[in-house]
Amino acid sequence: MRSGQGQGSHDIMPGAKHILVINGPNLNLLGSRETRHYGRDTLKAINARLARRARDAKVRLVAFQSNSESTLVERIQQARGQGVDFIVINPAAYTHTSVALRDALAAVGIPFVEVHLSNIFSREPFRRESYFSDIAVGVVSGLGARGYELALEFALQYSGKR
Ligand code: DQA
Repeated sequence: MRSGQGQGSHDIMPGAKHILVINGPNLNLLGSRETRHYGRDTLKAINARLARRARDAKVRLVAFQSNSESTLVERIQQARGQGVDFIVINPAAYTHTSVALRDALAAVGIPFVEVHLSNIFSREPFRRESYFSDIAVGVVSGLGARGYELALEFALQYSGKR
């Protein structure tokens, strides 16, 4: 994890790989939200597991969640200047609507994996359309919270080649 942000912070892991985990709208409600689709893990618990794994692997991991499209766009834009090497993103409902988020990811050019807890292909037809999948390195969908961990494992090994 990062030691902090903004002025006065120091980098505890200079040169370490830097991974950003982004979660979109309503994922702050994980644990209680539509548990048949999204399971009972809270986002806090998921992020704690990711942080532990990142610490073991000696990489910097920052987790960010927002319900706001513009805040998510701004966070992605900042990522380039912050030296983020890889993004794991669950765009949630914006998966199916947001050209703006797609454009932000394309603009920064940081490789990313798209994660969904549920299998978006086995649900309502509108969920089958993603604005992200074709520009993602890959997609994990339907494996529940494990999907984030698998995406992180992939990010740890990712070197630009597959
Ligand atoms: C989701 C699937 C989306 O369709 C939905 O809007 C979400 C969560 C998932 O993780 O399965 O909010 O991205």
